[in-house]
Amino acid sequence: RSKRPAGAPDRKLARPVTKAGVVGAGLMAGQLALLFARQLKVPVVMTDIDQERVDKGVAYVHAEVDKLLGKKRISPDAANRTKALVTGSVSKEAFADADFVIEAVFEELNVKKQVFAELEAIVSTECILATNTSSLSVTAMAEGLRHPERLVGFHFFNPVAVMPLLEIVRAPQTDEAVLATAFELAKGLKKTAVLVKDAAAFVVNRILLRLMGEVIAAFDEGTPAEVADDALRPMGLPMSPFTLAAMVGLPVAQHVQESLHAAFGERFPVSHNLQKLIDNGVKTLWVERPDGSRV
Ligand code: CAA
Repeated sequence: RSKRPAGAPDRKLARPVTKAGVVGAGLMAGQLALLFARQLKVPVVMTDIDQERVDKGVAYVHAEVDKLLGKKRISPDAANRTKALVTGSVSKEAFADADFVIEAVFEELNVKKQVFAELEAIVSTECILATNTSSLSVTAMAEGLRHPERLVGFHFFNPVAVMPLLEIVRAPQTDEAVLATAFELAKGLKKTAVLVKDAAAFVVNRILLRLMGEVIAAFDEGTPAEVADDALRPMGLPMSPFTLAAMVGLPVAQHVQESLHAAFGERFPVSHNLQKLIDNGVKTLWVERPDGSRV
């Protein structure tokens, strides 16, 4: 059986990536910066809107490297090298010499479009731009770009260090050399890449949200979260749907629900309780058991 993923373009078209950039310094961005530095061993710069966020993002990467060192998953030399590769900046000018920049900012089309417009004013024409969106249209995101053919979806799963899958999203305008580079990058990052079309929530979340959506609907109808969790645990799921929603973040889970609802209607209902929780500022959905454990 050929090892070349289905639909992947000719690897000879791939371009080298010697410096990577991550827009955003939040949790997903930090996980991406760590992965790129650790696996590709190239400099990675992270940016965010203020120095405090940038410092927090870099500190997160350093703390994760220290955890790996503590578990002897990384040598002291590799730990120091990885830490030194990750830097932060409040200015996107730091991306001027990057070959690949991925955004992991707020899941809102206009915010992402604005980010890409700013990036295009700085990066070289060869630089590939990627989005880690889990629910927005890559095609719509490329609209307005001077070089829409350089945008590709690069969708990782949480926790990035552990989940082996990467959805590479091909929009109609995405260039073959950009896709080829994305596949070579995935290999370097030790992820299993699948090529997916630019459709609502791509493939994995579309399937996952059928399950999570039904569990959340049961919650909406009054089933306590811990009862749903107890019923599902013996099914061999690695994590309860509520813990999963908490881990990816309720606003992200809701964005995915909304995209699927817009595309497929009542097959993917939007949870009113989820909306209420978000309106009340709730970002996670931990359920405490009587013994103190969390689901
Ligand atoms: N960051 C880094 N490493 C993590 C981690 C995190 N947040 N969470 C767990 N790990 C690591 C642990 O450190 C541990 O590593 P070691 O073996 O080196 O010690 C390893 O993962 C296993 O962790 P645990 O033994 O603590 O727990 P586990 O066996 O229950 O596995 C899990 C944890 C891998 C997260 C597992 O519960 C799981 O697979 N859950 C499902 C995750 C999932 O479905 N993710 C997709 C979410 S959808 C999404 O992300 C897309 C979107 O667009 C919204």
